[in-house]
Amino acid sequence: MIRYDYQDMMRSRVGSEGVDAADLAALAGRLAQARLALDAQRQEGKLGFFDVPKSRPSLHPMLETLTALPPDVETLVVVGIGGSLLGAQAIHRALVGLAKPRYRHLKVVFAGDAVDPQAWLDFDASIDWQHAAVNVISKSGDTIEPMAIFMLCRERLVKARGAAGAAKRIVATTDAERGTLHDLARREGYATLPVPGNVGGRFSVLTPVAAFPLLAAGIDIEALWAGAAEEAERFWMAPPSENLPMTFASLQYLLYRQGKTVSVLMPYVQRLQLLGAWYRQLWAESLGKKIDRSRKVVNVGPTPIAAQGPADQHSQVQLYNEGPHDKSVTFVEVDREVVDVKLPTPFPDIEGLAYFGGHALGEIVRAERAATSEALTLNRRPNGTWHLPDLSARSVGALLQGLMIATAVAGELFDVNAYDQPGVEAGKRAMYRLLGREGFKQ
Ligand code: PA5
Repeated sequence: MIRYDYQDMMRSRVGSEGVDAADLAALAGRLAQARLALDAQRQEGKLGFFDVPKSRPSLHPMLETLTALPPDVETLVVVGIGGSLLGAQAIHRALVGLAKPRYRHLKVVFAGDAVDPQAWLDFDASIDWQHAAVNVISKSGDTIEPMAIFMLCRERLVKARGAAGAAKRIVATTDAERGTLHDLARREGYATLPVPGNVGGRFSVLTPVAAFPLLAAGIDIEALWAGAAEEAERFWMAPPSENLPMTFASLQYLLYRQGKTVSVLMPYVQRLQLLGAWYRQLWAESLGKKIDRSRKVVNVGPTPIAAQGPADQHSQVQLYNEGPHDKSVTFVEVDREVVDVKLPTPFPDIEGLAYFGGHALGEIVRAERAATSEALTLNRRPNGTWHLPDLSARSVGALLQGLMIATAVAGELFDVNAYDQPGVEAGKRAMYRLLGREGFKQ
């Protein structure tokens, strides 16, 4: 099971910069209310992300879709953006190649960022289109970046395999009932996978949005769902004082109220590097809001920062230790490596190298995280750590579900709608106008 160690977030460890234990305890009533409110929304059929891992959506359709791709397909090009991309990328980076695949698997590459011309040209040059398939993902079905890249990818497939061959090599993940991509897929005869209507983009990592590319990459999505389902179960059952997502959300909320408006996520596992990008979107789009639920203007929201240990010890940590008292730092650590690498001891006579020769790399990285935490604590900087027992699909699934639930709880505490993104929509509308979309021209 994953753990969350928050002792260095508290006043007892970092003085007045930390959270008062009494303030945390005083939130218990609000947290119990928040859980009831979330449960009520879940039962009304909203907030589908809570139950996705338990219901293991679309495993068979996904497997069928994967096996139905022509046998010459070796690479799956995944096209999406934001919530339709970041989760798949984060988990793929974390887990690809670690466990033996159970089903057919492909090389999976992501084209989400290839929106500027040079990025596309670089990406295009790296793909053997004769042996590629494309998974285009857009819940709304008309987000310009992925649909633009999709048009280019399709053109490459048509050139390589003809129109009918291309259609057999395209999988569209989109709303099951409506939208531009839904309609296009129908017209062109593409295989489709559904994004459940009651799961928002940034909460969709365990649906086919990410699950299909991950399945295609040979990642054990059943273990991912199992870890996430356990974490959801623990959330519904555990009292607030022992509830990890509640505790994480409460500490972030209380620190925000104390002026610590920046929330840094700093995994000390290189394979978890993209977790920060996923969390940053989840936390920022869900909690950064102009109005609260009674429509009062509040302009609220913590600023999430993605950092990486130990590399950022030589970059960001100076700021975290000595800059403004406006941050909390959350580390992510794996307690046990699947494999570890022991250093040789080639220089026993050189004091500056001899002391760490013979140690394992995993031990060194853990010492670095503990040392960074100790220094932050000495400098009265609140910091906490998510501990994963290992780097496995189960543990990663649990952490992602825990963070999504924590975001939902934080939405309740901040009293904002954590599931819309009017600020993003405003920009989209402006872009439609600039590009002359019908109905948006001035
Ligand atoms: O969280 C969200 O809802 C957004 O980040 C969306 O995922 C993003 O805008 C992409 O949207 P779509 O899947 O509709 O293309």
